[in-house]
Amino acid sequence: MRIHVLGSAAGGGFPQWNCNCRLCAGVRSGTLRATARTQSSIFVAPDQGEDGLLVNASPDLLQQIKSNPVLQPARGLRDSAIAAVLLVDGQVDHTTGLLMLRERSRPLPLLCTDAVAEDLTQGLPLLRVLGHFCGVERCRIVPDGRVFEVPGVEGLLVRAVALASKAAPYSPHRDAPAPGDNIGLVIDDGASGRRVFYAPGLGEITPALFDLMASADAVLVDGTFWTDDEMIRLGLSTKTARDIGHLPQSGPGGMIEWLDRLPKHTRRLLIHVNNTNPILDEDSAERAELARHGIEVCEDGQLIRP
Ligand code: MLT
Ligand code: MN
Ligand code: ZN
Repeated sequence: MRIHVLGSAAGGGFPQWNCNCRLCAGVRSGTLRATARTQSSIFVAPDQGEDGLLVNASPDLLQQIKSNPVLQPARGLRDSAIAAVLLVDGQVDHTTGLLMLRERSRPLPLLCTDAVAEDLTQGLPLLRVLGHFCGVERCRIVPDGRVFEVPGVEGLLVRAVALASKAAPYSPHRDAPAPGDNIGLVIDDGASGRRVFYAPGLGEITPALFDLMASADAVLVDGTFWTDDEMIRLGLSTKTARDIGHLPQSGPGGMIEWLDRLPKHTRRLLIHVNNTNPILDEDSAERAELARHGIEVCEDGQLIRP
């Protein structure tokens, strides 16, 4: 299968429009060895065939389509390779691009859990708004690990697992977590038998979840923060990474420790990187530490073939 990384940054992107932290200022002025990134999204398609699944619809979607011609194969007067959209949560950075797909001539096949559908009808009523345009044809995801197929995309077998993370601030379940607020995906390519695990927002790794990660050929996981108190130390927030549902990379019980335990051949990639994360500085000690652990940092436009 092909995984096109459309956006590898967390909410806000890199640089973030209003941010003058060392990293944002450095990439903007060109004084730092770092690469700009748009907000979190991937496109997954089988090796044969052009149509695929858009996983998360970022506010940068139009720019991402322009930068990735595979999404616009131009087979007809109006055309797109996006056969369906799957949402892993109801956050702004993963959902607001849905509005940019409103010119479709047919309802948009939308795969999401009941919890996310609720977020998007109540807290952030995008599905109601889209009802005035192309509308959505919702396919219900139950995050219980059972296999489902993607309408319009042949050869991909997908499973969703409920994750401990955090619903969006406007979600009816922000303070009463429901299974399905946040999901991770296991995607199998039926033809090659290759498997990827994708979880851009991951607050906790349970033994069962770790086993699932260990069964994949490649894992694309939460790269939001390096340290738990990153935003606090910069004076940008009062919340820790764990408070908002993201497992930091460094420190005891952090992502690096978990990734170290995966089988040797598993490809390890971080995605959904926040603009405050020092790993964005390609000359940083933190980036060198990732390299020592065999961990890659996803970039926009990257093609991954697990
Ligand atoms: C998150 O995953 O916590 C988000 O990136 C936050 C946001 O979109 O503002
Ligand atoms: Mn996010
Ligand atoms: Zn910044």
